[in-house]
Amino acid sequence: MNKKEILKKYKEKIKLINKFNKFYYDKSDPIISDKDYDSLKKEILLLENSYKFLKSKDSPSNIVGYKPSKNFKKVLHRAPMLSLANAFSEEDLINFEKKILNFLSQKNNFEIFYSAEPKIDGISASLTYSNGKLIRGLSRGDGKEGEDITENLKTISDIPKVISSKDFPKEIDIRGEVFIQNNDFKNMSEKFANPRNAASGSLRQKNPNETKKIPLKFIAYTFGYEKGLIVENQSDFIKKLSEWGFKTNPLNMSISGVKNLIKNYNEIEKKRANLDFDIDGIVYKVNDFVMQRRLGNVANAPRWAIAHKFSSNKAVSKILDIEIQIGRTGALTPVAKIQPINIGGVIVSNATLHNEDEINRKDIRIGDTVVIERAGDVIPHILSADKEKRSKNSKKFIFPKNCPSCGSETIKEFNKVTKKVDAVRRCSSEGYYCDKISIEKLKHFVSKEAFNIDGFGKKIVENFWKLKLIKYPQDIFNLDFSKIENLDGWGKLSVQNLKYSINQKKIISLERFIFSLGIRHIGLENAKLLSKHFVSFSKFKNFSKQIDYEDMLNIDGIGETQVSSIKSFFSNEANIKVLNELEKVLLIKNAFQNSNNGLLKNKTFLVTGKLNGISRAEVKSLIEENSGKTISSVSKKLNFLIIGEKPTKKKVDYAKQLKIKVIDQAEFLKMLNKSS
Ligand code: IVH
Repeated sequence: MNKKEILKKYKEKIKLINKFNKFYYDKSDPIISDKDYDSLKKEILLLENSYKFLKSKDSPSNIVGYKPSKNFKKVLHRAPMLSLANAFSEEDLINFEKKILNFLSQKNNFEIFYSAEPKIDGISASLTYSNGKLIRGLSRGDGKEGEDITENLKTISDIPKVISSKDFPKEIDIRGEVFIQNNDFKNMSEKFANPRNAASGSLRQKNPNETKKIPLKFIAYTFGYEKGLIVENQSDFIKKLSEWGFKTNPLNMSISGVKNLIKNYNEIEKKRANLDFDIDGIVYKVNDFVMQRRLGNVANAPRWAIAHKFSSNKAVSKILDIEIQIGRTGALTPVAKIQPINIGGVIVSNATLHNEDEINRKDIRIGDTVVIERAGDVIPHILSADKEKRSKNSKKFIFPKNCPSCGSETIKEFNKVTKKVDAVRRCSSEGYYCDKISIEKLKHFVSKEAFNIDGFGKKIVENFWKLKLIKYPQDIFNLDFSKIENLDGWGKLSVQNLKYSINQKKIISLERFIFSLGIRHIGLENAKLLSKHFVSFSKFKNFSKQIDYEDMLNIDGIGETQVSSIKSFFSNEANIKVLNELEKVLLIKNAFQNSNNGLLKNKTFLVTGKLNGISRAEVKSLIEENSGKTISSVSKKLNFLIIGEKPTKKKVDYAKQLKIKVIDQAEFLKMLNKSS
């Protein structure tokens, strides 16, 4: 193909993806499958990668999703919709109150009353009433400008369309939360991840008749713009709301004193699992409106309110079974299969039991009624079992003494550092002998921080393993593509893409290579240290003499645990064979001797959001190779904030506030004289 033909082909594909985007996002009616969409996207990226002259503003490498808001007209809020600062502890609340007292120049013993309102986790909306008539409904949008979703909001029966009460203000924006009750969500849990997503999706349907089918609820809690509102404080306002025909939260309270706020918080947290709507904290608002006005706002949140977040989510469910999973390092992890339950908006059906000791200590059995906790992004875990609810014939769970995958004996190691026997039981087989361990090793090998082979994820590893296409890492580089082409779900194009991604990763840095081997106790940081120490692959592979091990102990950060793990790795013949085979197909780059005079000298960086085709780890090492530094938060010390897809808004806003340069991936690569 000549340049002209390539360009033509590229433009056609861009046009096509634009069309699909439109159907998907604007019309909520996709005309191709996700899989076909993804492969078109890949084709475009592949072309761009191969021919640097190809560029389009509509390329998937440029657009972060597609703005669904095109469906709706944008309208300015008459008063901005603010957000709330968060509190996580009693100390945060004490500080919150102290600041208020300082601001109002009041003594410490001054009593402030708060309206304490459980914070429903839904979608906020602002309803404009003019002369008692609902004339417009907006989503929050960016707080300044929302989407006009009037027709969809009108389908919600909790929202009054006309209010004739005499004391209803002439002009007012009533604000509150649109949500779906957990009970109603049960019937739609296949389509959405959690009730909040379901509410958001339903509210933003193009067709109000579709929205109407969803049992959306509305609870009112505040107001924006108003003319003619005669109330003096928040709790009176809430009373008025209910007189005017709005639903309000039955758990709202008026409280003074931090101690009492905490008491109420604990009581509500206990009730939380039994509520029919998800709450993720309690909002405290200074009750008095005069005080609120005096306090005003900081940035985009009021000084007079704070959201006291629940630290974790708990729920009660039943253990249906206990499965033993085997990890990459042979650790046997018991996982409870539980009756699926919604915990803080996520449906949970697996919960970890950590290890054998934990099961024994808590005496957890199949059939038990248990409390499950889901905190942040970590895997949900079982807190305790309710022994009273246990049936008479329940039996103690016996942990397997043999590996469920390969049958090898399972062992508990003695930890030389802690001088204790490990809580974890492990399969005693060496690496590739045990199928489950092998699969996990392969998953690690292709993972993001390791070889990061595009399109070669955990599912493909499992699939190819089952089909006996791969057993060892080197098999990935010797795949029989003609076989794959004939597999279900694969075609010429996807095989071509896979081949391309694999070939691209045949050149790898020594540190990534060492990390990808999945040696126990050798994570990214240690792999980096080892790579700096050995500099080349051959030196790494060929050391085995006692002296080298001694030498390794001198590396700052490498201790006995790591050294003995490396020893055992090299004493395994299968591992040596893997190294030899990989050496044949890969080009392992020597460790980079950091010059202190690179292109990014004295510059600091932070990444937020997902980058395209390059992992965080890779960016970090690129920066370091060029004498730059990465830091972990936005501060005055930061020089550049690199933004990818879905960046954290807070970071971007804060960086802008500090006048820090905000750049995208392409601009960053340009700084390194690389094109994207
Ligand atoms: S008041 C300035 N009250 O929390 C006051 N918000 O992070 C801002 N929310 O976007 C809103 N329950 O979606 C307020 N009782 C309540 C609330 C509440 C839930 C949500 C709302 C807002 C977010 C603020």
